[in-house]
Amino acid sequence: TSQRVFRIAAIPADGVGAEVVAAGRTVLDALAAASHGTFAFDWTEFPWGCDHYQRTGRMMDEDGLETLKDFDAIYFGAVGWPTVPDHVSLWGLRLKICQGFDQWANVRPVHFLPGVLSPLRKAADTELDWVVVRENSEGEYSGLGGRNLSARGPGSEVAVQSALFTETGCERIMRFAFDLARTRVRRKVSSVTKSNAQQYGMVLWDEVFTRVAADYPDVETESVLVDAMSAKFVLHPEDLSVVVASNLHADILSDLGSAMAGSLGLASSANLNPEKRFPSMFEPVHGSAPDIAGQGLANPIGAIGSAALMLGHLGLTDEAARLTKAIEATTGAGVLTPDVGGRATTTDVTAAVIDHLT
Ligand code: NAI
Ligand code: MG
Repeated sequence: TSQRVFRIAAIPADGVGAEVVAAGRTVLDALAAASHGTFAFDWTEFPWGCDHYQRTGRMMDEDGLETLKDFDAIYFGAVGWPTVPDHVSLWGLRLKICQGFDQWANVRPVHFLPGVLSPLRKAADTELDWVVVRENSEGEYSGLGGRNLSARGPGSEVAVQSALFTETGCERIMRFAFDLARTRVRRKVSSVTKSNAQQYGMVLWDEVFTRVAADYPDVETESVLVDAMSAKFVLHPEDLSVVVASNLHADILSDLGSAMAGSLGLASSANLNPEKRFPSMFEPVHGSAPDIAGQGLANPIGAIGSAALMLGHLGLTDEAARLTKAIEATTGAGVLTPDVGGRATTTDVTAAVIDHLT
């Protein structure tokens, strides 16, 4: 039998991104070492991010997408640092990769871990586990719009930021959500919009949802407005399984979900190009956390959980399940970083996960 070698592009980028990507790489290499030569990871690390911007005027190399195109997957940290405006750093690197590689489905599990105190008391006696599926190619983050200063003069500037909804874009993310629901214990998809106030794009979304739902009679559905859904996250999370929402709404709701589970540092995510024409990208949900960067305090669980999603995507489903169990064993044993009430460092948690793998 020949060894499978996965070529992975690592982009730690800024702040705690470097710490948590290093943690995830260590865990993945430990898994590969324990695979008795079945598989290995061939890493290439790219120095892109805000420091690179300071040196070169670019967040990533001009031919960056061309370089990344042939990797099996991208393992990403977090982008953003106070030295560069956030819209410049985000658009110059992360959104460029997501949109350039048509990673149109962003999968963000909200997973409540043993040993982590949730601010939600319900979590103690109810199993809570749902997935936010984020439309990741259009919607409010389509980059359409402009600013016009000159036409109206200083002090009267106007800006337009448009949201783009296409029938194709809505349909593919909804089919993805329904297919995912069929793999889960609770077969249910909740669609989120604000179609009462936004009568074009979001009404199109609602209509496509109704049409697609008809093809999945075995899957329960509901349509909930985003404000009501944020309340539902807190009040009735046991009623959620797959939540499908636009780029902006899902971005906000997934932060809410991970905070409910205990910390932003726990949340993982996959930016998928389901057709596999381009590499998919795996990253923690959190940002570069400048307030704790460089101190060894970053919770690596979000990044390690993202590594588990990457294993699943690469077809290593047994290893993905093993890694998820090792994460649960680690938090269950009380090895926790300060954001979830513990005293462990990034390295302590990483080492404990590796211990539980074997
Ligand atoms: P953030 O996620 O970096 O931090 C929010 C809070 O969560 C902070 O108190 C931070 O200490 C804490 N936190 C985040 N990750 C943690 C971890 N692994 N362990 C423990 N605590 C953690 O969001 P913020 O402060 O709004 O943004 C900081 C920078 O990150 C900005 O430049 C922003 O644009 C960027 N950002 C990048 C994202 C990405 O690359 N996907 C996502 C969100 C923000
Ligand atoms: Mg976000």
